[in-house]
Amino acid sequence: MSEQQWVNEAWEKVMKKIERTSKSIGANFPHASENGKYVLEEPYWWTAGFWPGLLWQVYRDTKDESIKQLAEECEEKLDSVRNAFYKLDHDMGFMWTLTSVARFKLLGSEDSKRRALIAANLLMGRFNANGSFIRAWNPWTEGEDNSGIAIIDCMMNLSLLYWASEETGDPRYKSIARKHADTVVNEFVRDDGAVHHIVRFNPESGERVEAMGGQGYGPDSAWSRGNAWAIYGLTLNYHYTGEVKYLEAAKKVAHFFISHLPEDFVPDWDFLLPKGVDFPRDSSAGAIAACGLLLLAEKVSVPESPLYRRMGEKILQSLYENYTDWDSMEEGLILHGTSHFPEQKYIDNPLIYGDYFFVEGLARLKGYQELFW
Ligand code: GLY
Repeated sequence: MSEQQWVNEAWEKVMKKIERTSKSIGANFPHASENGKYVLEEPYWWTAGFWPGLLWQVYRDTKDESIKQLAEECEEKLDSVRNAFYKLDHDMGFMWTLTSVARFKLLGSEDSKRRALIAANLLMGRFNANGSFIRAWNPWTEGEDNSGIAIIDCMMNLSLLYWASEETGDPRYKSIARKHADTVVNEFVRDDGAVHHIVRFNPESGERVEAMGGQGYGPDSAWSRGNAWAIYGLTLNYHYTGEVKYLEAAKKVAHFFISHLPEDFVPDWDFLLPKGVDFPRDSSAGAIAACGLLLLAEKVSVPESPLYRRMGEKILQSLYENYTDWDSMEEGLILHGTSHFPEQKYIDNPLIYGDYFFVEGLARLKGYQELFW
């Protein structure tokens, strides 16, 4: 089947399924699907932006008013958590980019712009100038000290800051984004192109203390979703700044990722596992990396450009052909995601971020170029 054929076929099926699941999921915040049905989270959970973001991807193509209304309702529900300060961490980028920034870019809503700028200010407020990093999390348990924690996922939150600088003309947002990205290039990206999930700094002196395993097997393994966040996030940082070191780092991580893919092009949850450890796939890592590779392909020339483009397509095509279920009542689009292997949470489930990036990737292959990020 030609690329155009399978992409159109997949898109049609996605549209049909979302028409159904938009009625059962509604204006809510799904995370992982269990026994065919999405488990909903509170709006302050980091995944809150993906369902409305997916709805905006659909709306851009169909102009279906009921889809638009659901995405807007989700965005309005996020207002309730903006003041719940303690519950918000660095994932404000994921949350408000795919709701308010997406709506602003598509429809020019001034309310959305205001919401996204407030979120950008809150995100900027998490910057630790001693160590030049954006603090990831708040304490999750009484007395826990997360003040020195930075994680690779934050690379995807930085787009909100670049957008805020572009919209306001105020360079502070992008300057903080760049400082965080520099820290990631220096402290997270390893010589072989793998990345750490977590690096802990001394929040007073700014010195690096240690790398930590986080959602990967260990500090020196290679959590595939973290590597995927790095490919896309570093490429986006290059997109916004033109800074070559981000492009070089993105390429290095992309080569590591591509060279560790199994035969069906969809990654195991971690690329560097010792013998005896289970290695379920993480389809979400594949979808995220595919979107990153498609953008990366546009930033480089031959011979790398066709390689990245082909790999992005191959991952998406394999997800479509081998990781979907169009016949049952399953709500998820992409099967076999791994949310958190070390905590044994949602292994072999559809995950809403896998679904979102699958749809974003298809939209890109269909020719929609404007990024929500
Ligand atoms: N940002 C958390 C994750 O990727 O699971």
